[in-house]
Amino acid sequence: MQISNYKTQQEKILCTTVMPTRKIPDMVEDIRESLLKKPRALSPKYFYDQRGSSLFDQICSTPEYYPTRTENKILSRYGVDIINKTSPDQILELGSGYSTKTRRLFDACQQTSNECIYAPLDVCEEVLIESAKRLSDEYDWLVLNPLLGDYHAGLGNLPASHGTHLFVFLGSTIGNFEQEDALEFIKEVYKTMCYGDHLLIGVDRVKDDDVLHDAYNDAQGITAAFNLNMLHVLNRELNADFNIDKFTHSATFNADKERIEMRLISKAEQYVNINDLNESIQFNLGDDILTEVSQKYTYQGIEEMLKQANFTITDHYEDENAYFSLVLVSK
Ligand code: AVJ
Repeated sequence: MQISNYKTQQEKILCTTVMPTRKIPDMVEDIRESLLKKPRALSPKYFYDQRGSSLFDQICSTPEYYPTRTENKILSRYGVDIINKTSPDQILELGSGYSTKTRRLFDACQQTSNECIYAPLDVCEEVLIESAKRLSDEYDWLVLNPLLGDYHAGLGNLPASHGTHLFVFLGSTIGNFEQEDALEFIKEVYKTMCYGDHLLIGVDRVKDDDVLHDAYNDAQGITAAFNLNMLHVLNRELNADFNIDKFTHSATFNADKERIEMRLISKAEQYVNINDLNESIQFNLGDDILTEVSQKYTYQGIEEMLKQANFTITDHYEDENAYFSLVLVSK
């Protein structure tokens, strides 16, 4: 039957692979460099195995974690304005995950009859496919072109396409970068864009210490489980023997650097073997591993960074508490 034929075709979702423009260090090398030297650190990218991604989703719906909810609200409120100002032929999302918040932009496209292509770029093929299937069911007009790759290393290799582009980088992911690296990254995004293209970036704002502290220390302990999950990842991937019970979660606001710093702290003197590295690490009571920084920006700070990368500010949206910013800029 024709209908079912059409359906099968629809369900076949193919991802385009985006090759990195530079070598991405493998986990063994990367962890040797960061974990064996002091101050000890681990890249936040190792949070996101299947369990970690699910814990992150749970964090997003805790009462304390305001960013997701707030960004979603701003997108619902100003989505139509954003689409009217950008008229995208293509929406390209860097680090798309399940594209949950991006749906607010598709709703706006629907309301303004702005048909377009959606190119979500993500490192996880399963997530890309599952999410593309759901999107094609919900938005039958939306043309999907999922891109499989690293949003940072792959930036220089995005497939060329005609028309005007709206790049989106949501969730204050930019906060994971050290500030100099954030500017470098924004400059790289600028380079890959064409004149007339726009970028919509979500950035978390500096605010009351208690609000920030609570957002990373939720009462249910989900953020703690998320942080500690990184040790499970190392145990599995590097054949390590971290005793998860002998570490504790810490997230504090560094007022000088205006950022949340998340650490794992050793609750005892202990030795941990990392078999794939052929190394053993000694931890004293109170020794820590930095697992994440989450930079908060002021209104001026965000604009400053975007202007330094040569962007022109089109609009700066925020919620009524000024907890979160969505900045629309153009090249
Ligand atoms: C995904 C990096 C934006 O920094 O708020 C949430 C990650 N870590 N709770 C953030 C996170 C702990 C999140 N980002």
